[in-house]
Amino acid sequence: MLVFKALEKLKAHLNSKSFKIGLVPTMGGLHQGHLSLIKKACLDNQIVVVSIYVNPTQFNDKNDLKNYPFDLKKDKAFLSSFSKNVVVYNPDNDEMYPSGIKKNSYNFGSISHHMEGKFRPGHFNGVATVIEKLIKDIKPHNAYFGEKDYQQIQIIKALNKSLELGVKIISCSTEREKDGLAISTRNKFLNPRQRSAAIKIHFALQELKLKKGAKKFFDMKRFFINTVEHSKDLKVEYFCIASIDDLVPVEIFEKFKKYRIFVAVFAGNIRLIDNEEINIFN
Ligand code: PAJ
Repeated sequence: MLVFKALEKLKAHLNSKSFKIGLVPTMGGLHQGHLSLIKKACLDNQIVVVSIYVNPTQFNDKNDLKNYPFDLKKDKAFLSSFSKNVVVYNPDNDEMYPSGIKKNSYNFGSISHHMEGKFRPGHFNGVATVIEKLIKDIKPHNAYFGEKDYQQIQIIKALNKSLELGVKIISCSTEREKDGLAISTRNKFLNPRQRSAAIKIHFALQELKLKKGAKKFFDMKRFFINTVEHSKDLKVEYFCIASIDDLVPVEIFEKFKKYRIFVAVFAGNIRLIDNEEINIFN
């Protein structure tokens, strides 16, 4: 498994092959969710760059950044048996932020204002800053992102469009544990009680999705909060239903629009997010 720390060396490696390049940006702590993106990238491209970089500018909680699990050895071992076409790019802060660690400021309009944008101010500017740099540096044909972070994908699509980065952004569905919990690097911090309570998040979203007939926002919100907070270990931060076009939360639905439910839930100080497509009128 080739691991590049210096961009120039990675570029020299990529330039020596006239191959289709796929990029899978990650912050490490690799798991089956990341692997599903990498597998898809390997099918579409001859060479896949998995970037592993814990980006300081997208964390608005210093403790979250400090505790974020980084273990390159483990991630390399996780990837090594996978494909010889995968290379790792693990830049340091100087490589990613040559003129000092600060994020760019973007205007993504409504898609950045709510849900994660509201509860993690500045987060998407940090994400967009590193993704812009990675795409400009690596010049991939395709870049892969997970629907677990649905709003993040929409931000990256907008970034790609407005800066004409010319990369194809590919969305991959959310990988889940057997009991439905969305796989996340942070899941390993859950204690056994929090972990078993956390299955209620996906369960409640599925119930809401499968209930037939027009649904009322406040009934759905109450159902979600009651189901999840039935366990004293969980606290709902937000429950929103937003149109997928503008990601603006609404309480009244229009017949021909497509909506998605977005939630964030705290288990102690561990923050879990999930989202689910919903057809309000079927
Ligand atoms: P990270 O949380 O490491 O996630 C890297 C990619 O894996 C993201 O596109 C994320 O949506 C996807 N992913 C995570 N869990 C997943 C799951 N259970 N199923 C499917 N895909 C999943 O997201 C980031 O890093 C960062 O914000 C980043 C884009 C790398 C910018 O720093």
